[in-house]
Formats: sequence, C-alpha cells, structure tokens
Amino acid sequence: MRGILIRYRHLLPLTSKTPLVSLEEGSTPLIPLDSTGKDLGIRLFAKFEGANPTGSFKDRGMVLAVAKAIEAGARGLVCASTGNTSASAAAYAARTGIPCTVLLPGGKVAMGKLAQAMVYGARVISLKGNFDRALELALEVSRELGLAVVNSVNRYRLWGQRSVAWEICDELGHPPDVVVLPVGNAGNITASWAGFVQYSRIGKIGRIPAMFGVQAEGAAPLALGKPCPEPETVATAIRIGRPVNGKKARWAVRMSGGRFLSVSDGEILDAQKRLAACEGVFAEPASCAGIAGLYRLASQNGLSTGKEYVAVLTGNGLKDTDAATSGKRPPVEVDAELKAIREVLL
Ligand code: F0G
Repeated sequence: MRGILIRYRHLLPLTSKTPLVSLEEGSTPLIPLDSTGKDLGIRLFAKFEGANPTGSFKDRGMVLAVAKAIEAGARGLVCASTGNTSASAAAYAARTGIPCTVLLPGGKVAMGKLAQAMVYGARVISLKGNFDRALELALEVSRELGLAVVNSVNRYRLWGQRSVAWEICDELGHPPDVVVLPVGNAGNITASWAGFVQYSRIGKIGRIPAMFGVQAEGAAPLALGKPCPEPETVATAIRIGRPVNGKKARWAVRMSGGRFLSVSDGEILDAQKRLAACEGVFAEPASCAGIAGLYRLASQNGLSTGKEYVAVLTGNGLKDTDAATSGKRPPVEVDAELKAIREVLL
C-alpha cells in the first residue's frame, strides 16, 4: 500500500492540487497478544504504530497536514512536541523540502526522538518550560511568522489519524468491542473515534467501539477532570497538563460508552516489560499506558470477558531506551572465552 493518502484517498479531504506526499506510512501490523489476552480474559490485539516510518502514529496525520500546508503555499512548518510530533514533522518536511521549526520542553524529550528531529534537519529549539507552554508559543510563532502549525490543533493532522480506525476495521473485518489508547494532548483518541464514526456513516461498520483513554497518574487532567499545572511522568510523550483537544476527547469518549482512567509510572513500566518479554513487542512507555490501563481495569473487574480489545501501541520502544533500561542490571561482562560463557550459563 502506498501510504495513507493513496490507500484512503476516498475518505480524505484531498483536491486535485494536494501533493501525494508519502513515506509509505500506515498499514502497521495488528498483532494478536495471546499471552496478555489470556492473562486478562479477553481477546486482545496490538496495533503496532511503532512500525510507521518515523516510529510513531504521528505519521498518519502528519502526511496529510504537510500535504495540505504545501497545497496552501505555507512557507514553513512549526510545532511544539514531547518528541514524536517533532520527529514526524521534521521527516515530512525533509521529504518535501519545506523548512520546519520544532519547540521542545527542555530535558524532557527522549534521546531517540531528539536525534530524529536533528538528523532530519529541523531547526530545534529547546525551551525552559513544559509542553503546554511550548504549544502556546508555537501558536504565537505561527501567527507572527506565517508558518503552518502541525500540532493536533491542525484539523488535517486529526483527519489523517482517523486512518488507524479504518485499518483496524479493514483488518479484523469488523469493529472491535473496545479500543484503548494512551492520552496526552487528546488528539489521537478524538481522531480514532471520528474514524470509526466516519466508517459507520458510510456503512462499513454497524457500531462504534468503546474508547478507553489512559493517562499517567502525574499527568491525568482528563482522568481527574481538572488541569495539571505541573505534569510529571516517565512516559514523557504524554507529559501534558492541559490537553488542547480535551473537550472533544471527553465528548468522543462519552459518546462511545468508554472512559478515561490513569495508571502509575510503575504500572506503565511493568506493562512495557511484560509486552516485551512475553509478546516480543517493544513499545515506548506512553504506548504501554493502554496495556497498564487494561491490567488496572482487570484488577477492578472492569473488563468484559471474551470481548475483543485493540490496544494502540503508539510509539516504538527504540525511541526511549533510557526509560526501558533504567534500573535494570547491565549485561554480565566476561572474558571472550567459551569457558567464561559456560560459567555464566551453567
Ligand atoms: N503516545 C505517544 C507515543 C505520543 O507521542 C503521544 C503524543 C501520545 C501517545 C498521545 O497522543 O497527544 O494525541 O493524546 N505525543 C505528542 C508529541 C504530544 O508531541 O509527540 P495525543
């Protein structure tokens, strides 16, 4: 499949002037998580968005946002980011030759993501402030310099991100009962729900899955129902205290019959470890919040046994190896001799 703009052209707001930008994004694996599903008493699949070209789901929306910015004659792109949006914006900017500026919360972006923005050639600015402040400034910069904002305030970003819902239904042949996603700025859960709604309006599916949004306890404005002035979590991708799409997301979740909940950093890291060690799937901490949420619900008898769940694993574990290895014992070091290896193994 030749990327989102080709695969789903009939469902996207394309015109004859929209450039068909592509890094062959989307068409990510839908992996059965048999061991985890059995543990939880449900049928469970992971939509592994870490297999996108820049390693996160952002590429689905970014490709459309950048194509539409070029169509509108934008001089450049700007975004605030906890890391993945900036990596994706920088890649599509490089692909299309449009300049890109990214504003990052200083010291709180995983190294892999920072490396991506730098190597793709974006202008990277590290701010002494958190993501919420960076987004305010990105909007101001865009107004002052006439740049296209490619955060999830951009309707095309959200429209492109609907495609994850379409793929899940296409692959399963029906909608799942529940979709669980990590929530930061709350764009992705809103977009995914809108994708299911669009599919039901054109008669492709007969019902909408319940949408479950999981936040980290230290950055849980939607689960708590109030802003978090100082968000903090090991899952830096979702370290957000005032989600711009909060209102829309609350509506989407309520309409779908789902809910928001929060989990601790410990539960997120346990879920990450379990996914990697028992399923062979390595996702970044934020992505694993969804799985941690399922475990939390199971402990409260909040899962419907036998039903079909899809957890969207939003980003690749390789982006943030520090979070995955911190607190782990380093590999044993021995002489490069068979005897030494035998001593370790036997
Ligand atoms: N998972 C990952 C890996 C993310 O990078 C993000 C958001 C989310 C989940 C949450 O998605 O914001 O639509 O609710 N990352 C943004 C960024 C904020 O700048 O990369 P959301």
